[in-house]
Amino acid sequence: MRKPLIRRLELADEQATDDLGIAIAAALPEDFAGWSILLQGDLGAGKSTLARAMLHALGHQGRVPSPTYTLVEPYQFSRGDVYHIDLYRIASADELEFLGWSDLSSGLKLIEWPERVPFLTDEADLRVQLGYAATGRVARLAGLSERGTNLLSQLPGLTGNPVTS
Ligand SMILES: Nc1ncnc2c1ncn2[C@@H]1O[C@H](COP(=O)(O)OP(=O)(O)OP(=O)(O)O)[C@@H](O)[C@H]1O
Ligand SMILES: [Mg+2]
Repeated sequence: MRKPLIRRLELADEQATDDLGIAIAAALPEDFAGWSILLQGDLGAGKSTLARAMLHALGHQGRVPSPTYTLVEPYQFSRGDVYHIDLYRIASADELEFLGWSDLSSGLKLIEWPERVPFLTDEADLRVQLGYAATGRVARLAGLSERGTNLLSQLPGLTGNPVTS
């Protein structure tokens, strides 16, 4: 594949992370079956905050518990299913089988700690990498598929010129 489109965004505070989640949710197609979004970044970087904002923007009301222990938290919308996944406790790709991984392909996957299973990058549409900044966070967003790249090129509010790396 071509080098991915990467865009950078400064997230000054938690509200900015929420706004990014809302923008990504709004840019998703009506039928998001099979989409996969990777949420990367160190402990506490804001991955769950972003997933929570997306789930609320898609219409979920109420809590969004961390999937740290359950590994997968499912959500049902009339548009389709969303799976909030945290692979922090996964040691290798072999363990995905126990999660019923193939059953999750019908929905939109929001995956924290995808680094645990490197092949996930090959099947993903978008990667959001969150890092600590002097104040707040910095997000680097990469389109990993054609449809993910299209979504990224349409997202409003991203600063700077698109860069490839
Ligand atoms: N842009 C931001 N600026 C400052 N703080 C933020 C920002 N975005 C999120 N936070 C804060 O970061 C903290 C950790 O967030 P969160 O739980 O989402 O991290 P995480 O990446 O999911 O961590 P883990 O790896 O443990 O799952 C929360 O207190 C949240 O309010
Ligand atoms: Mg988390």
